[in-house]
Formats: sequence, C-alpha cells, structure tokens
Amino acid sequence: MVTPRRDERDAVPARLGVGRRRVKAISQRTLGGPDVLETIDVPIPEPGRGEVLVRLGATSVNTVDCALRSGRVRFLGPPPFTVGFDLSGTVVGVGPDVTEFGSGDAVFGMVHSRTGTYCEYVVARADRLGPRPAGLDDLRAAALPTAASTAWQGVVAANPQVGERVLVHAAAGGVGHFAVQFARQRGAHVIGTARAVNHEFPRGLGVDEVIDYTTTDFTTVLDGVDVVFDLVGGAYGQRSLRVLRADGRYITAQESDAVDDPRCRRITARPRPAELVAIGELAVAGDLYVHLDRVLPLDDVVLAHALSESGHSRGKVVLTPWK
Ligand SMILES: NC(=O)c1ccc[n+]([C@@H]2O[C@H](COP(=O)([O-])OP(=O)(O)OC[C@H]3O[C@@H](n4cnc5c(N)ncnc54)[C@H](OP(=O)(O)O)[C@@H]3O)[C@@H](O)[C@H]2O)c1
Repeated sequence: MVTPRRDERDAVPARLGVGRRRVKAISQRTLGGPDVLETIDVPIPEPGRGEVLVRLGATSVNTVDCALRSGRVRFLGPPPFTVGFDLSGTVVGVGPDVTEFGSGDAVFGMVHSRTGTYCEYVVARADRLGPRPAGLDDLRAAALPTAASTAWQGVVAANPQVGERVLVHAAAGGVGHFAVQFARQRGAHVIGTARAVNHEFPRGLGVDEVIDYTTTDFTTVLDGVDVVFDLVGGAYGQRSLRVLRADGRYITAQESDAVDDPRCRRITARPRPAELVAIGELAVAGDLYVHLDRVLPLDDVVLAHALSESGHSRGKVVLTPWK
C-alpha cells in the first residue's frame, strides 16, 4: 500500500466547506476606537502553500491590536482587516507543502496578517506555529505568543546575571509579569514598577521590590541598576538612564526617547516556535505563571479592547470564540 503524503492525507476536508460555509470574524471598516470593531460573516478561508487552517481555541489582546485598530500603527494597510496576532487552536486542514502538522494537531503561535486571529477559522503560516504542549490549555496558550516571547527575548537581550539588579517597568502587565519571572529564574534581584493596588501580584511572582510609580519617582529611590526593561517608554527612557549603571543595559519594547544611548537596545518580538514551545513547557511544569486578567468571548471584543487601552490590565486579556 502506498502511504499518502501528509499534505494529501490532511488537505482541507471537503466537509468543512472552505470558501462556501460562512463563519464569524471581527472586522473594521474604518480606523478608530474599540466600537469600530464589528462581527461579520466570512467564508472559511483556504490555506495556501505552507499554511494551515486552524479552528480558533483562543486568542489574546495585545497593545499592537489596539494600535492597528486605531491607526496608530499601519503596517496592515487600510481597513477592512481583522486584527489579532496570538493564536491557540486545532489544525483542521493544511495547504500544500506543509509537513509540520496534520488535522487534529493542537498548535499555538503568532499570526501577522490582514486576516488576523479574531475569527473562528484562522489561516496561519505553519512555520510560525509550534505544537501546543500537552497540559497547556487554549486560554493560557493564547496568552503566551506575543507577550511571553517579548519578555523572553528582552530578558535574553539583557542577559541578567545572578544578583544583578533588574528594573522592570509595568511589571504587572502582559509582558511585564512574564519578564519578571524570567529575570528571577536567572537569579536577578528584580524591581518592578506598578500601582499600589498591583503590588501583591508581582511580589507573588518573586519580585523583590515594587515601586508605586504614582507616589514615588523611581529616579529618587534607585541608583546603579544593572538592567532596565522598559515596557512604558516615552520619557521613562531618559529617566531610566539616570538610574542605570554606566555600563548597564537598557532594553525597551516601546518607542523610547532613550534610543540614542549606546546602552539602549530596542527589541521587537520575533515568532520563534521552538522557543515558544519551551516557554509553554515552563507553564505546564508550573515554572511560569500565566495570569489571565479576563477571559471574554469575541462578542465582547469592544470591552476587551477598552480594558487593554485602560493601560491597567493585569496579566493578559484572553478572547474565546463566539458563544
Ligand atoms: N516591541 C514589541 O515587540 C512589543 C511586543 C509586545 C508589547 N510591546 C510593548 O510593551 C508594552 C507593554 O505591553 P503589555 O502587553 O505588557 O501592556 P499591558 O498589559 O497593557 O500593560 C498594562 C500594565 O501597564 C502598567 N502601567 C501602566 N502605566 C504604567 C506606568 N506609568 N508605570 C509602570 N507601569 C505602568 C499597568 O500597571 P498598573 O495598573 O499598576 O498601572 C498594567 O499592569 C506596550 O507598550 C507594548 O506596546 C512591544
């Protein structure tokens, strides 16, 4: 008997009705506030060469989703488009030349496209996804790709040594709560900034000192810091340089006014499936806590974006398919 090639065995099954059956997606006709987001019907998309079709298990909100929606960043081109980068779900079919996955595989990862992840069926590049580790549910898996990759890649760039003092701005946020854990795992002494209401949260993650940025100017209480991981940006950049050692490292994931300083390194999260799987395994092993601030159905996407844009969500806001 001839064993079929994987792409033949797992090509998108006809019963799915690709291109015919209509399913739900979030879209927007104009740039603007959260209420430009609307639910529309679209045909199930067809995966192209090197792509897989994934039934959405969950996605999560990242600040870039809101920036794209509003037009603050524009790399998706003009609307209509569907936002969303983070994906966890199940492969239901594969396009030509996909060898990594077949139907039924649980996957997670990043999607950077105009068809996004805020939809029932997502087309994704297979080489941007990893196998979702057993024991990692869709909700936590969807919280990881962008935020935990940014945190991981930022901490790798900073390379903190045992005992070094690492200041993480926005320690209670999506990226920050992962960054403080990765820095602690390297044996760093971690200092975070957060409002008082959020202090117990980073402390519970092992943060050694928390500064309430609403009452205390961190530049008045810190000096000689080895690393700053800046998740706030703007004027925090120059202020952070004042507390940094002369040979310290300033890592920013934000637009910052400190970028001209030789100690500054600006990072952009890269999709690296093997790294993401390793991060997922940390979560399964209990070595990485994934905090879900809110889990909302995509029906409530307007609320989810408003929460994210409040600037005060704790951990991640996760979105699940329509009820
Ligand atoms: N370059 C990249 O590839 C990349 C990737 C992901 C994210 N980012 C950037 O990284 C930043 C953080 O992203 P995120 O997803 O973690 O955002 P987030 O979850 O929305 O951050 C919310 C957190 O920010 C804290 N915060 C707000 N203002 C603060 C201030 N002035 N000082 C200290 N903490 C403050 C809040 O804590 P309180 O409630 O206690 O105020 C809240 O917990 C964003 O600006 C995003 O654009 C960049």
